[in-house]
Amino acid sequence: MKTKNLATHPLAGVIGWPVAHSRSPALHRHWLGKLGLGGEYVRLPVKPGAMREALSGLRALGFAGANVTVPHKQTALRLADLADDVAARIGAANTLVVLEDGRIEARNTDAFGFLAHLAASCPERDPSDGPAVVLGAGGAARAVAVALSEAGCPEVRLLNRTLSRATELAADIRGAVRALPWAEVPHALADAALLVNTTSLGMEGQPPLEIDLAPIPDQSVVYDIVYTPLETALLAEARARGLAVVDGLGMLIHQAVPAFEAFFGVLPPVDGSERAVLLGSGAG
Ligand code: ATR
Repeated sequence: MKTKNLATHPLAGVIGWPVAHSRSPALHRHWLGKLGLGGEYVRLPVKPGAMREALSGLRALGFAGANVTVPHKQTALRLADLADDVAARIGAANTLVVLEDGRIEARNTDAFGFLAHLAASCPERDPSDGPAVVLGAGGAARAVAVALSEAGCPEVRLLNRTLSRATELAADIRGAVRALPWAEVPHALADAALLVNTTSLGMEGQPPLEIDLAPIPDQSVVYDIVYTPLETALLAEARARGLAVVDGLGMLIHQAVPAFEAFFGVLPPVDGSERAVLLGSGAG
């Protein structure tokens, strides 16, 4: 579906609470500048409970759309007039697009961002190569599990400290997704083609992720969606083992690509310059 009239100076932004530390404005403004496009991308602080008014506001103020971050991703999906299949399957939206007819469509580009960065980092590998082990069962795990499932991964193994959350997630997503207790990590890794950390473990200020990579096959890929620090202890250990590694910053960059195209009408080229922009734009 086409976006609302792509004016010469489209408006877009990021809705969140808090939103002061979002890196999205730096990224979108970088692409606007690089492509020489008119347009604005602003922070939109929206308090919990105010999303319905915020959606009306987007329409009334002539916005092309907005990205959505914590704590509004699920509410955005619920309040939008329609949703794309991926957002519906993930159960959350990170992008709202104002359509030509004024309706607001909820989309989720996190799954695309996860897969696009994996493909860019390891072009010779494919999610259909073998089973994937996904650590965690929060919002990020939801997007990753849907992405892998849509990309033909033969089995997504969800392992989480709280098993019940993984079980619920597997039931929600359906398909070849299986919840396993955390104690099964070594066994689950033994024939895994991909390991993804979606927990907050290993993030600055959080406890480390302590898992033994010994059982994972040599040709596997280790992907940590944590990007503060850029090289987590998990990635450092995987690199030392000679495994292919994928960091979390690229997912953040690639998830913004379809949103930028929807807001500003041009597909932005990802060329590596984004990494420096994001690393220099502050925490959060
Ligand atoms: P997000 O939506 O960003 O993925 P979340 O819903 O808070 O965030 O999920 C964080 C994930 O990190 C969860 O899988 C959480 O495990 P629980 O479901 O058991 O809470 C995991 N996590 C956070 N701290 C952890 C810890 N100390 N040990 C193990 N897992 C942890």
